[in-house]
Amino acid sequence: MRKLLIAANWKMYKTPVESTAFLTSFFPLVKNNTSTEIVLCPSMTSLPALVDAARGKTVSIGAQNMHWLAEGAYTGETSPTMLTAIGVTHVLIGHSERRQYFNETDTTVNLKLKSALAHSLLPIVCVGEHLNEREQNLTADVLNLQVSVALEGINPAALGSLVIAYEPVWAIGTGRTATPEIAEEAHKIIRAKVASIAGSDIAASTRILYGGSVKPDNAQTLCCLEDIDGALVGGASLDPASFSQIIANATQTA
Ligand code: 13P
Repeated sequence: MRKLLIAANWKMYKTPVESTAFLTSFFPLVKNNTSTEIVLCPSMTSLPALVDAARGKTVSIGAQNMHWLAEGAYTGETSPTMLTAIGVTHVLIGHSERRQYFNETDTTVNLKLKSALAHSLLPIVCVGEHLNEREQNLTADVLNLQVSVALEGINPAALGSLVIAYEPVWAIGTGRTATPEIAEEAHKIIRAKVASIAGSDIAASTRILYGGSVKPDNAQTLCCLEDIDGALVGGASLDPASFSQIIANATQTA
């Protein structure tokens, strides 16, 4: 059984004060939740405050990015050891905005995934095709390449905690959600690729999240599908009421 995981990607929104105010409103709304893993990924500056505020609660805190090295002369970067030192447990890797605006590649995703696993951070690796790639029927090729380079050289035994987020770039922040058929097909492609690289047991335990305009009214339809194990939510995760409603609706299917 794969435990449902619903993660919030706050991107470059919310100061530390705004982040903890979110939690104050959010905790009562999810206090009865036990079946879903909830992860909040705020900006770097909100991580310490949120880790403190979430201590002892069933909400985990993740970073949106990290460098793959433990330390070094890399101005502006944050290392995995810096994240674990303050109690961060999860990390997003290779979000399409990082690929698009900050030159991340499948190769750096692979380095970061290896590093996250080595530092016991739970990695959420983001993959997904651009609209022109979908229109040219290249979706399967793109996903297969992204997954195979991400996992290159990693011992399957280390991949037990792997989470992959399928985020079609054309669905991010556009209000244009993938249809259940499109999402399920992409998730099946990803799971088959993981199976071919790491074996069917790892593939069966790998959680694959859907991301891209997830809202309270589509969370249930998407998360009830066989190969969709949760969601990575951007805009609709910034408000405690809408994010908790997504969790409630998605959990109904679990
Ligand atoms: P939206 O939910 O705002 O479309 O963003 C999705 C996303 O990028 C999550 O990582």
